[in-house]
Amino acid sequence: MNKEELVPENFVTPNQFSMANAKEVLGNECIAVLGYGVQGPAQALNLRDNGFHVIVGQRENTPSWDKAVEDGWEPGVSLFPLEEACQKGSFLVYLLSDAGQMQFWPTLEKMLTGEKTLLFSHGFAVAFSEQTRIVPPKDVDVVLVAPKGSGRSVRQHFLKGRGINASYAIHSNATGKAEEKAKAYGVAIGAATLFETTFEKEVHSDLVGERGALMGALAGMLEAQYDVLRKRGHSPSEAFNETVEELTQSLMPLVAEQGMDWMYRNCSTTAQRGALDWLPVFKKALSPVFEELYESVSSGHEAKVVIEANSREDYKKHLNQELEKMSEAEIWQVGRFVRSLRPENA
Ligand SMILES: NC(=O)c1ccc[n+]([C@@H]2O[C@H](COP(=O)([O-])OP(=O)(O)OC[C@H]3O[C@@H](n4cnc5c(N)ncnc54)[C@H](OP(=O)(O)O)[C@@H]3O)[C@@H](O)[C@H]2O)c1
Repeated sequence: MNKEELVPENFVTPNQFSMANAKEVLGNECIAVLGYGVQGPAQALNLRDNGFHVIVGQRENTPSWDKAVEDGWEPGVSLFPLEEACQKGSFLVYLLSDAGQMQFWPTLEKMLTGEKTLLFSHGFAVAFSEQTRIVPPKDVDVVLVAPKGSGRSVRQHFLKGRGINASYAIHSNATGKAEEKAKAYGVAIGAATLFETTFEKEVHSDLVGERGALMGALAGMLEAQYDVLRKRGHSPSEAFNETVEELTQSLMPLVAEQGMDWMYRNCSTTAQRGALDWLPVFKKALSPVFEELYESVSSGHEAKVVIEANSREDYKKHLNQELEKMSEAEIWQVGRFVRSLRPENA
C-alpha cells in the first residue's frame, strides 16, 4: 500500500482545519440539534462547550426533554419542540433515531428552505431512501458527520480532552460550501480526526461493523468460546476470565495503544505461536460469513429488516425482552460478578 492510500489528502486533523476555522464557517449559524437521545446530548453539549450557538429540538413531555432541561437547556431559550427548533435553526442536525427520522421527515422537509443546511450522523436515511422515503431537496447543503463511536464516548472523550474519529460526506453542495461546513462541524463537536466517505459507504461499513467485529461477531465469538470451555469442565470464573476479562482489561488496551502486532509482540512465545497458527483458521472460517453479511447490507436487506422491526407497535417491548435474555446468559451474569470483585468496586 502506498503512502497516499494510507494518508489521503482528505484525512483532516485539527491542525489542518482548526477550531478557529470552524468558528469562521459556523460562527453565524444557529445550530439546531434535533433529538436528545444518545448522539444528541453528546454533540449538543460539545458544541455548547466549544462556544457555538446551539439550540436543542425535542418532543415535549418526554424523558428526553427532561434530560435536556437537566443538562441546562432552557425551554423557550435554548430548548424547543422539534418544529420550532427547525424554524429557528439555520444548521439542522438530524439526530432523531433512524426510525424517528422517517416519521418526522414530512414535517422537516417543508421547512428546508435554501438558507438551511441539513446534517446527518448516519448515511442510513439518505442511502436507503427508497425504503426510508427521505429524499432531501437539491437546493440545500446536505452533509454527514458520523462519529465512529457511541454518543457516550463522544462526550466522555471530549471531557477528557481527547476526541473520537468521525467520517464526513457531502450529499448535495448547493452553496459550494458544503465541504467546509462538514469539516467545521466535525471539529466543532470535538472529533479527533475526520476522514472522507460517501453516505452509501458510511452506512455500508457502519452496518457491517456493528453486525460484525464490533458487536455481533464479537459477542458470538466470545459466547462460543465460553460455552466450549464450560462444556469441557472449566469453572465460570476461569471461562469468563480467559474469554472476556483478559481481553478487555489486558489485551485490547494494548491494541488500542500500539496495535495488534504490538500486542502480539508483548505476549508469551507460547501465546504467539498458537495465535499465529490459529489466526488464519479463524479468518478462513469467518470470511464467507463477512461476505454474506456485506451482501445482506449492500442489497438493502438489513435496512428492510431494521425498518420493519422498528415500525412495529411493540418493537421496544420485544427488543427489551431480547436484551433481557442476553443479560441472563451465564457468561454475562458471571461478568457482572467478576466486575463486582474488582478492587475499585469491592
Ligand atoms: N447511538 C449512537 O451512539 C450513534 C453513533 C453514531 C451515529 N448515530 C446516529 O445518530 C442519529 C441519532 O441516533 P441516536 O442513537 O442518538 O438515536 P436515539 O437515542 O434512538 O434517539 C432518540 C431521539 O429520537 C427521538 N425520536 C424517536 N422517534 C421519534 C419520532 N417518531 N418523532 C420525534 N422524535 C423521535 C427521541 O425522542 P423521544 O425521547 O421523545 O422518543 C430522541 O430524541 C442516528 O442517525 C444514528 O444512526 C448514533
